[in-house]
Amino acid sequence: MPLNLPNLLTWLRIVLIPLFVGIFYFEKSWVSGPNQNLVATIIFTAAAITDWLDGWLARKLNQTSAFGAFLDPVADKLMVAAALITLVQLERVDAIIAQGIEAGGHRGHFLEDDLSLQPGTFALVPQIVRAVKLPVIAAGGIADASGVAAAMALGAAGVQVGTAYLLCPEATTSKVHRAALKSEGARHTALTTLFTGRAARGIVNRLMAELGPLNGAAPDFPLATSAIAPLRAKAEAQGRGDFSPLWSGQNASGCREVPAAELTRSLAAGL
Ligand SMILES: Cc1cc2nc3c(=O)[nH]c(=O)nc-3n(C[C@H](O)[C@H](O)[C@H](O)COP(=O)(O)O)c2cc1C
Repeated sequence: MPLNLPNLLTWLRIVLIPLFVGIFYFEKSWVSGPNQNLVATIIFTAAAITDWLDGWLARKLNQTSAFGAFLDPVADKLMVAAALITLVQLERVDAIIAQGIEAGGHRGHFLEDDLSLQPGTFALVPQIVRAVKLPVIAAGGIADASGVAAAMALGAAGVQVGTAYLLCPEATTSKVHRAALKSEGARHTALTTLFTGRAARGIVNRLMAELGPLNGAAPDFPLATSAIAPLRAKAEAQGRGDFSPLWSGQNASGCREVPAAELTRSLAAGL
């Protein structure tokens, strides 16, 4: 186990975990109620910074090691799991979002990199409904009133819809992205790490087709974003989305160029 600065930073992240959890349970005279959230946020932010810094330093100082590559994701998972368990234990969670693999864009998928572990929405929702007492919100592939009704029939208390709103005038969706959503190409989406370094679902474009959507050479999150930025800007200036993230879920059939309120009313007909 090489004891170098990057590994010490990773160990620091692990040491911060009991401190982060303890903030909520220490004597009130130690950290008063209102300050608990602030101190916990500062600790969590510091841990997040070490998450980026340890990898960056390891590469910069040429101190990458197999042990570091193993410990880094372990530390992240322990920190995120500790935060989630603490939130549930403190009853700070009002509802759980059951996000299926169909969903567009990035996903709440932090504990494992293996994407095959993420089920489809309609397989996931009833399992979570059975397992928890909290309200469950279904997300992924829901694009019209009948999809909403189906999710509710499976026990969801509500739905989260993203893709269907991307053509609404209120959305900041770019021109090339709007054109792609309206094209036949929107029927073919894939999970890709090429644009940010973390898996997100988008319409398959030239970059994804030529490099493969999950190419291991993509820089780690979030470095891939700046790596692709010049190519993306040049292509977008020519009206092409060949190198742009064209985020979309598997079901773009509900995308309509109508005000978001109108779209929401039509989805709510399925409640
Ligand atoms: C453009 C776009 C960006 C998104 N970014 C994120 C994200 O950063 N993190 C996340 O957990 N989900 C993200 N999502 C997923 C949404 O929160 C939501 O779960 C999803 O859109 C629901 O599935 P649908 O896209 O099939 O409607 C994004 C979705 C879209 C369409």
